Amino acid sequence: MGKLASPPARDLGVVTPLVPRDAEQGPLTAAQVTAYVVGAAVWAPSVHNTQPWWFAAEGTEIALYADAGRQLNVADPSGREMMISCGAALFTAKLALRSLGYSVESRVLPDPADPLLVARLRWRRRVAPAGFELRLFSQVTRRRTHRGGFEPQPLLPGLLEALRQGATRDGAALRVASDVGTMAALAAVVEMAERVQRSDSGYVRELAVWAPPPGSRRLDGVSPSSYPARPERTNPDFTSRDFARGHGWGLPASSPAAATRFTGVACLLTTPTDTPADWVNAGHALQRLLLTSASYGAAAALNSQPVEVGWLRDIIRVQLGDDSYPQLVLRLGTVIQSAISLRRPLSSVLAGAGREPTAPADSGH
Ligand SMILES: Cc1cc2nc3c(=O)[nH]c(=O)nc-3n(C[C@H](O)[C@H](O)[C@H](O)COP(=O)(O)O)c2cc1C
Repeated sequence: MGKLASPPARDLGVVTPLVPRDAEQGPLTAAQVTAYVVGAAVWAPSVHNTQPWWFAAEGTEIALYADAGRQLNVADPSGREMMISCGAALFTAKLALRSLGYSVESRVLPDPADPLLVARLRWRRRVAPAGFELRLFSQVTRRRTHRGGFEPQPLLPGLLEALRQGATRDGAALRVASDVGTMAALAAVVEMAERVQRSDSGYVRELAVWAPPPGSRRLDGVSPSSYPARPERTNPDFTSRDFARGHGWGLPASSPAAATRFTGVACLLTTPTDTPADWVNAGHALQRLLLTSASYGAAAALNSQPVEVGWLRDIIRVQLGDDSYPQLVLRLGTVIQSAISLRRPLSSVLAGAGREPTAPADSGH
């Protein structure tokens, strides 16, 4: 019987390998495959690290549900970003199954009778994983969201084209801000959105719930171990979210004060329409993009403030885009990462068929 490496419930800066030990000694049980797959899927990015998902297992099938209790009711009233986050978890779960050499069948939303059911996955025959699938999978626990400027090194040749093609495969599109004017305009819209949100008390209260102080025992939310104490400004500057809210929390500067840091390549992830299925597709595309970038030695910084403010999202769509729906603003570049990211354990997210997980809530939110 093959044994699985224990799922990476908590990463304390050490990369936990997601490699099934002794897999060659025999087939894994369905329960072992499920634990392995869900243990990987939780490493997907999610808005404010809300981890708004849970998984139900039944034999060789896993259902992925959105957890509406973790939705950002102020910043994300439609659940759009919750579904993007779940789409990213879906991509990761499928990749985990492929890394084990299983072919995957998936059925994605919509199911009007069950709007929180994001997808059902089933694994079947064995088909050896391709090299690129293993390369992407090896980045699942290593990848981190970057917050700040980038090194001067350019992206490796071929990366942007690979990212564009990947987004298209998922029914989304990656649009690169290739001229200085568009990049500056996009940065201005991000800054405006950040101002609008900082002046909204409901938004600030909600951010406080998901940005715990140093020393918190929470395994969700954006911890001070994942953002710089002093935001690094670049030109143009894409204003970061104010996770520390004036408390001075965060990581010490990663480069000397005098070092010049760069904005990187600014992009928009868009979808042709704006339905829940598009949001899941956007999340699928996002995680493909993040893991592909990581496999090329690049990192991404994400800005979703302007797509959370309706009129600013419209400006991006109509004035700066091509009428398709912006789902996320992001920047790509090279950087040495020191961020630590946390996840809830399997017992909090994995249940039997149709039942929510029974572990006590560990978020304290
Ligand atoms: C839909 C979505 C929106 C996000 N928006 C932002 C953002 O505006 N600013 C930011 O710093 N990170 C943003 N993130 C990144 C999350 O904060 C990050 O994924 C989470 O904290 C977990 O950290 P990790 O990606 O390093 O594992 C976003 C992620 C998703 C999926």
